[in-house]
Amino acid sequence: MPDGEHTELPRILVTGGTGYVGGRLISRLEADATRLRALARKPEQLRDKVGPSTEVVFGDVADRASLDRALAGIETAYYLIHMMSNAQDFAKEDRAAAEAFGAAARGAGVRRIIYLGGLGDDDDPGLSPHLRSRHEVGQVLRDSGVETIEFRASIVIGAGSLSFDLVKSLTDRLPVMLCPLWLSTACQPIAIDDLLAYLLAAKDLPPGDSRIIEIGGADVSAYRDLIREYARQKGLRRVLIKVPVLTPYLSGLWLTLVTPTRSEVGRHLIEGLKNPTVVRSRVALDTFPKIRPIGVAEAIRRAIQGAASTLSATDATTGPS
Ligand SMILES: NC(=O)c1ccc[n+]([C@@H]2O[C@H](COP(=O)([O-])OP(=O)(O)OC[C@H]3O[C@@H](n4cnc5c(N)ncnc54)[C@H](OP(=O)(O)O)[C@@H]3O)[C@@H](O)[C@H]2O)c1
Repeated sequence: MPDGEHTELPRILVTGGTGYVGGRLISRLEADATRLRALARKPEQLRDKVGPSTEVVFGDVADRASLDRALAGIETAYYLIHMMSNAQDFAKEDRAAAEAFGAAARGAGVRRIIYLGGLGDDDDPGLSPHLRSRHEVGQVLRDSGVETIEFRASIVIGAGSLSFDLVKSLTDRLPVMLCPLWLSTACQPIAIDDLLAYLLAAKDLPPGDSRIIEIGGADVSAYRDLIREYARQKGLRRVLIKVPVLTPYLSGLWLTLVTPTRSEVGRHLIEGLKNPTVVRSRVALDTFPKIRPIGVAEAIRRAIQGAASTLSATDATTGPS
């Protein structure tokens, strides 16, 4: 068959394309002219948001047959899903989902799964259920026998990231904040651009063993430093008052600042803020020498800029009333 007539099928599958990380990854892969398949529970919601070359298929990680279809012919599969929004017992459902995905990937002959989970110390008995579950998903995917690259990240700084939106909403609206002590917990946020660089580079690594790669930005900070830096860049005067615990009142207040559909996920994320999420190994820097992540101040600057351009794009689409 002459080259021009050869229609190549996508070899990369992205899951979680309606979500924050997956949606941005699809745009980057498309910008590199990569042909993709994207799996979505509501394909009609994703179709308008992706380029014409991306094939959108129905798939639900709770529906094994849909996974078998979506993974057919795939070499690299990105697993960017969590079930915290809609599950009764998210840890159990995330485990079952990862088992089904791993088994389907193995059956389809997938060469590599690339998964993004969370940082945190497995040996910490106080590790939050959310972070423990993220680690378990990585283990389950590895146990499938398909080579799995598990990235572990702290909060992602970018316009539209739920964890960054929590910082932003709080700081924008509350001149005086009651801050529980754990806002001094150490974290190592990563800018969305750096996270995407790692996710993209992982598909081109030579074949090897499954591994865990901890990733983070250039700075280790405390959550309250993120609030302070965001306030500084926005020219806001904010007073932070330390309180010993996160009271139900305070927790409720935080959650009223995010949209109701995201508050369930927000609750689990807040529980995890007491756990340090810091990179403890050099593996990322050694494996990806071309990726040198930026620090918190620059990441926040880009996120504020990104939020402003999204707003003005929405204004332009909406037009004057
Ligand atoms: N954002 C961060 O700050 C951050 C930080 C560290 C690690 N991570 C990790 O990055 C990954 C993606 O996070 P995110 O922030 O992009 O999450 P997100 O915006 O909440 O997106 C979650 C995605 O999961 C999909 N999903 C849920 N249940 C599904 C099911 N049964 N079948 C198929 N798809 C399903 C959702 O699809 P629907 O639209 O159909 O619900 C959505 O596309 C997660 O593993 C998370 O732990 C995120």
